[in-house]
Amino acid sequence: MSESISVEIREVSKRFGDFVAVDSVSLEIKKGEFFSLLGPSGCGKTTLLRMIGGFELPTAGAIRIGEKDVTHLPPYKRPVNMVFQSYALFPHLAVLDNVAFGLRYKKLSSADAVKKARESLALVRLEGFEDRLPAQLSGGQRQRVALARALAMEPEVLLLDEPLGALDQKLRKEVQLELKNLQRSLGLTFVFVTHDQEEALTMSDRIAVMNQGRVEQLDASHHVFEYPKTEFVAQFMGAPNFFTGVVKSLAEGLLSIGARTESEIRVRARSNSWRPDDAVRFVVRPEKLDLRTKSGTSDGEVSIEVTIEDRVYQGVNTVWVVRSDEGERYTIYEQNDRPFQESSRFRVGGRAFMSWNPRDTVVMEKKENGQLVG
Ligand SMILES: Nc1ncnc2c1ncn2[C@@H]1O[C@H](COP(=O)(O)OP(=O)(O)OP(=O)(O)O)[C@@H](O)[C@H]1O
Ligand SMILES: [Mg+2]
Repeated sequence: MSESISVEIREVSKRFGDFVAVDSVSLEIKKGEFFSLLGPSGCGKTTLLRMIGGFELPTAGAIRIGEKDVTHLPPYKRPVNMVFQSYALFPHLAVLDNVAFGLRYKKLSSADAVKKARESLALVRLEGFEDRLPAQLSGGQRQRVALARALAMEPEVLLLDEPLGALDQKLRKEVQLELKNLQRSLGLTFVFVTHDQEEALTMSDRIAVMNQGRVEQLDASHHVFEYPKTEFVAQFMGAPNFFTGVVKSLAEGLLSIGARTESEIRVRARSNSWRPDDAVRFVVRPEKLDLRTKSGTSDGEVSIEVTIEDRVYQGVNTVWVVRSDEGERYTIYEQNDRPFQESSRFRVGGRAFMSWNPRDTVVMEKKENGQLVG
């Protein structure tokens, strides 16, 4: 295994009775990487994380951490530490003792354990809180104590299971940035579980999007966002705008798609497995779509006439829900960078044109017999 790989998961599955919670997952996590497992409730994120930590044994497959096969090792023999969603602090112990607790089992002298615990608390900016009990802390502070406790053990890999779930929106955003900075400055490997796509995008170097026990896409975070490979990933990343077309030709890496628009759409193809007449599904992100009063065909724009079904004012954006004449529904985000009144040139029930630049068309990977190809 390469020097720079921290965790290697090889065809790992986990069954609970007949139910397959994790289905033959293979992936590698690099040293010093912020790696996220992202997916909806029940897709197997926690189960996979617990197998890395040793709290659950795989039904099949192997797990290596560093150079070592840890598949059958108990948690305390693995160079990892886990931060659970419910911080699991000892309620009767002061903050400092909570953080020093595990260190005392590491055969550190009491004085060294206290020193290390103080350093860890400083890392999460909790100096001065050493003598408080968990009940005397806010949710965000408790979260940081749990983090300090895990960091104090100096694990090679830190596993975090939705650690920010209990925090309010504002605090959550603050702690996201703090955690990311801490991870980067210490050069630690983080495996982070979340079902929040924005959180994953904010923090991660790479993201594995999971669906029903499988990894559906693993890519750099901006790549998962901008180039989803499947409809599931596109939907999960907030782009529920699907179109159907047919391949006209593939030449010089450019795919020509005939859709129900006047012109063909030419897009860069990510695979050369396409053939003429293949059915093709593609997606356009809501913020890349525009609503127009006229068919905007300048600069090769694609334009489809639609009926406006709904309008939701969200402060930063106005969300338009429109329907094509085929009955497909699309979501358009209009940034509210003009006075609010101006968007009243459109009304619910009226007709308008939905337009986009063809370069913003993202083609879903080709499927044959339900399997992705190319
Ligand atoms: N001990 C268990 N026995 C039986 N089924 C289990 C067990 N643990 C998990 N499961 C099932 O495995 C599936 C995956 O669970 P898991 O906790 O990994 O999901 P998750 O992606 O972490 O979801 P969430 O976002 O809700 O935390 C779920 O359908 C769950 O019901
Ligand atoms: Mg979970």
